Amino acid sequence: MTTSRRRFLRRTAQSAAALAAGAGLLSPARLWAQPTRPGNPLRLPPDWFGDPLTVAPANLPIWPGYSTAVAAINGEVPGPTVRVRRGQDFAVRVQNNLRQPLVLHWHGVLAPERMDGHPRDQVAAGEGYEVRFPVRQRASTCWYHAHTDRLTAEQAYAGVAGFFIIEDPAEAALGLPSGSHDLPLVLADKRVSASRQLVYTPSMMDVMSGYLGDVVLVNGTPDPWLSVDRGLYRLRLLNGSNARIYKVAFGDGRPFHLVGTDGGLLSAPSAVTSAMLAPGQRLEILVDFSAYAVGASVVLKSLPFAGGGGMMGGPQQGTEMDLLRFYVDSATTGNATVPATLSPFTPLNPAQARRTRVFTLAMSGMVHTINGQLFNMQRMDFSVPFGDVEIWEYRNTGTEPHPMHAHAALCQVLSRSTTPTLAAEDTGWKDTVLVNPGETVRVLTRFDTHSGLFVHHCHNLEHEDSGMMQNFQVLPPPTLAVRRGDASVSVSWPESEQDWSLESSAEASGLVWEPVARPPAVVGGRWTVTVNELTGRRFYRLMKS
Ligand code: C2O
Ligand code: CU
Ligand code: CU
Repeated sequence: MTTSRRRFLRRTAQSAAALAAGAGLLSPARLWAQPTRPGNPLRLPPDWFGDPLTVAPANLPIWPGYSTAVAAINGEVPGPTVRVRRGQDFAVRVQNNLRQPLVLHWHGVLAPERMDGHPRDQVAAGEGYEVRFPVRQRASTCWYHAHTDRLTAEQAYAGVAGFFIIEDPAEAALGLPSGSHDLPLVLADKRVSASRQLVYTPSMMDVMSGYLGDVVLVNGTPDPWLSVDRGLYRLRLLNGSNARIYKVAFGDGRPFHLVGTDGGLLSAPSAVTSAMLAPGQRLEILVDFSAYAVGASVVLKSLPFAGGGGMMGGPQQGTEMDLLRFYVDSATTGNATVPATLSPFTPLNPAQARRTRVFTLAMSGMVHTINGQLFNMQRMDFSVPFGDVEIWEYRNTGTEPHPMHAHAALCQVLSRSTTPTLAAEDTGWKDTVLVNPGETVRVLTRFDTHSGLFVHHCHNLEHEDSGMMQNFQVLPPPTLAVRRGDASVSVSWPESEQDWSLESSAEASGLVWEPVARPPAVVGGRWTVTVNELTGRRFYRLMKS
């Protein structure tokens, strides 16, 4: 048995044991001795502890009794779960031991341009690189995955993906379910051969629709089940599929609470019976199993829906599918409750939008274009001024759904041409927005974290790899000149730069920026503000006013 295989098995057993200990009633032995329970116990990815992320071919016992070739991260599929607290630096070495180039992208995490995983930064087989950047955004369930030039789909499909969870004190104070009751769940559909190998042989039709599987793995587990108690659970659902969209629901139609989207918690929970989850997106839900008796089971599933995609005779988009079965094995209810409010945030204001950018999504031959063009690594497609609120308008003129994703900012859905009222999953911060066939979707966005070169693309990975991607640059804000005296500092920028206001922060990480109250005055051709720093040295930045 190989080391990675042994570790993989040990980890499965440990998760089950930890879960049983959390439930308080079942011993691991008893959990394992349930001969009539069909399927496989859900695997939980291990946490990451700062070691290099090494991406390499591996053979894992995904199906009992078989060995499946995958591209694993530290021997795991999905890779280890990164957990970072807001304000901390994230630092890791990425080692590429595949036989192909590779770069990793931290999806949803606002990283500086050279750390973000643009395909231009991919490294050759056998090489590695260092990543380091501060994480300053609010708590959210993000993820990381391969972002290699024209190999993203193949590598992500083979397993190169993991969770990247950002935590912060505001979220911790809510007392949401934690530990064994806080479950990251990545959904990824596959086609599987008789010898239980993952089949990835996209035809031209598959590239057109995106590669759909007929088996959904949850955390790399086929036919998964999980033993739960009668308590409240937080499920962090990630759609890590290449092209499949899920309409998440419970088999008995029971309502659940939607609490978070790509960019973190909603301002308040929303009770729903289903929610759409497109590739790249995350949904966080709270589900209360106290409604079930011990001995009951309920399945998390994807409901059927119409909406395009899929080949005649092959796997279809919108098919009804079982995802994960929960067995209620313990009467323990715990004491977590659904909070009345979660994490209030100030939505972007459409009245502040400085411009509308239109993106026309269209079919061209057997591939899809954005504004009539395919990706060209050497071409800059557009520039976005730092800090401007913008409306991005997606017009889908084709017959395929497109989950559109921009790096380097979060956004909010403003409107959909197909409905006057937005679904709950459209009310939070997003980084990936589903644009249905024939639909026009408008989102509000603001790039105010990093300047530099980033990509904007469809997160249907076959669409992305076949060119449905753009380069764009976030233009830098004006450079500040900072001149320090004994207890005061004068901060200035060119007079030609209008519409900026000065903000300051006590921490280098800039976690809390406050407007500087004193208005700027023009001194020698520069906007200048002189501030007392009696309480210590502060950090300064410009924001669009
Ligand atoms: Cu998750 Cu550029 O992608
Ligand atoms: Cu991304
Ligand atoms: Cu697409």
